[in-house]
Amino acid sequence: MNIPEILQQMTLEEKARMLSGRDFWHFEAVERLGVPAVMVADGPHGLRKEVDNTGNDASKASVPATAFPTAAALACSFDRELVGQVGEALGELCQEEDVAVILGPGTNIKRSPLCGRNFEYFSEDPLLAGELAAAHINGVQSRDIGTSLKHFMLNNQENRRLTVSAEVDERTCREIYMTPFEIAVKKGKPWTVMCSYNKIGGVYASENKALLTDLLRDEWGFEGVTITDWGACNDHAAGVAAGMDVVMPSIGEEGAREIVDAVNDGRLDIACVDAAVTRILKLADRYTATHKKDPDFFLGVQHHLARKVARECAVLLKNDGTLPLASKGNIAFIGAFAEAPRYQGGGSSHVNPYEMTSALEAVRSVCKVSYAKGYQTETDTVDEALEAEAVKLASESDVAVMFVGLPDAFESEGYDRKHMEMPNCQNRLIEKVAEVCKKVVIVLHNGSPITMPWLDKVNAVLEMYLGGQAVGAAAVDLLFGAVSPSGKLAETFPLRLEDNPSYLNFPGDDDIVRYAEGMYVGYRWYDARKMDVRYPFGHGLSYTTFKYDNVRVEGTDPVMVSVDVTNTGRMGAKEIVQCYVHDCAPVVSKPVNALCGFEKIYIAPGKTVTVTIPVERRAYSHYDVKAGRWVVDGGEYELSVGASSRDLRGSVKVAVAGDKVERPVTLDTTVMEMIRATLGTQKETIAKKLLEVCSGVSENGALSETLENVFMADLPLHSLRGFSGGKLSMKDIREMVAAANAKDK
Ligand code: BGC
Repeated sequence: MNIPEILQQMTLEEKARMLSGRDFWHFEAVERLGVPAVMVADGPHGLRKEVDNTGNDASKASVPATAFPTAAALACSFDRELVGQVGEALGELCQEEDVAVILGPGTNIKRSPLCGRNFEYFSEDPLLAGELAAAHINGVQSRDIGTSLKHFMLNNQENRRLTVSAEVDERTCREIYMTPFEIAVKKGKPWTVMCSYNKIGGVYASENKALLTDLLRDEWGFEGVTITDWGACNDHAAGVAAGMDVVMPSIGEEGAREIVDAVNDGRLDIACVDAAVTRILKLADRYTATHKKDPDFFLGVQHHLARKVARECAVLLKNDGTLPLASKGNIAFIGAFAEAPRYQGGGSSHVNPYEMTSALEAVRSVCKVSYAKGYQTETDTVDEALEAEAVKLASESDVAVMFVGLPDAFESEGYDRKHMEMPNCQNRLIEKVAEVCKKVVIVLHNGSPITMPWLDKVNAVLEMYLGGQAVGAAAVDLLFGAVSPSGKLAETFPLRLEDNPSYLNFPGDDDIVRYAEGMYVGYRWYDARKMDVRYPFGHGLSYTTFKYDNVRVEGTDPVMVSVDVTNTGRMGAKEIVQCYVHDCAPVVSKPVNALCGFEKIYIAPGKTVTVTIPVERRAYSHYDVKAGRWVVDGGEYELSVGASSRDLRGSVKVAVAGDKVERPVTLDTTVMEMIRATLGTQKETIAKKLLEVCSGVSENGALSETLENVFMADLPLHSLRGFSGGKLSMKDIREMVAAANAKDK
């Protein structure tokens, strides 16, 4: 396509029409100029392409596709390559189905365990969430299919998601909520970014210039197309002016008219329209130029990948040696999820899987088991007959493997959970089975953390999350030891909901939600408060054991952290090695430890592998709001390597040089800040003058500890007039401020 030429030939009306969809799932076309209507579809962990792809079919039936483990599960793999393989498979199916862009990944931070959509998001940790989103994007896009990184930004709850305003301080925003998007945009270069429904500080994401243009494009270098979440358009022309390219789904001729009128009345610059249209044309061109169908494409192979991925994502939370199971003796599978697992979540990500394996089916190739349903799925209420039958079976069995978790009604897109409990009928059944059976193994199917009141009474807990269409087969592989579990939690399981940092401010009141906990999200909070948790971030057991030795570092940026890891058990298995950074003498408030790198590796029994993790300088930094940039405070930092955030096995201290920060001086700058900013520079006369005025301040700028001097040190410049004993007028002070801000010659 000759894009500049096409743009030149397009009428204003045609351009305006392009700024919203053609229908529910297509971008607009310009047939007379050879621009096709490209299709987009959900996302993120499987393709949901509606059979009637205009969006007019009320049944919303979708074509058969592979349901991979959802993001909550995928994240526990801590495996960029694996997530990339899922992306490749998604991209390949999109090519077959003529879909140009798959709507995902979603990389919002898990602020509360209650968010109904946590199953679609990766983690409470920004680095992990960003790295895996980038891997997903790179996988899909390697197949010449676009992604839509979503939901940009601060969509951390479902409650009032279309109208709520997220009120978050800037440092928290940068360090926690923006970082996953920043990493994904910079490392993944997604074809599109989808804005969230909500407002941010009172401004809808869909018309938020600070986000869509200043941050995303100008600062992070995003070159793709921005699209609204479905129905997130508020003021169309304001959106385009802010950097929003395509409103989805179509808002028809009325939407186009709004753009034409805004351009004609001078409210909207035609340059904004042209820039948006150019980006949309580029996307259509990119897709059509590379679109191809593979004559050998066979969806069936993806089921094997789904099974492998589900195995790699599962987290063994507890095991007293009961697992892996031997394939003999009386084994009972108990619980409706053994027969019909919950393997995906509700809402826009809901896939129509072409194949599904339950644990009950999969176990047939391993050994004979008995089965009792035990409970009805979508309810809290106990079914006495089912319960009695299951308890009887358990009492006759050597091992009861119980398949339990959260039903669809308990968590979904569109609403948040009210509590962290599993259904009462399931909790009660576990307690009753544990009374009559010596060995109880719990297999969990859930999208986010639950409480486990029965934990002390069971022997093992295997967390499968919502593990995709092959989750049943993967669970059987792990239960019987075909492979060892190797996933680690990408989020903390708190003891109780009340312990969660967002507890008092989730989901907010009316249309406002205040993120009062600031940057202390997830383990950053539990660690700072030294709180006990049910399972910490990064936790996950294995059928073998690993020893960590000889933590060492090399280089500076990135610093390479190496550790020798030995498999000291009898089974080959993978280990996820995590690296955390700790500021030994923080000047500003900082988390005790923050994840700064991770690698997953396979180690054969008895073997030692050296794992090397690159840690970039950004790991030491915090976002300095006054300076408007990331800043490293010079000093000593500790880099720890471990098997979980609370199982650190070794550490090294490194001396890090700080950044020189130039903050603009204002009348609110303090005396001490001014002295520090100017002493030893070309502007030293200012510091000298201040030292003279504030008697008692020593020559090197460090104050003696008298009360008066501490008082003077913290005095803002605007208050100095009254305290300088007539030595400084407001005019003098203003001149000092101007001189301090003047560029050096
Ligand atoms: C969801 C998006 C989804 C879109 C299209 C919205 O309601 O928030 O994640 O991609 O619908 O189905």
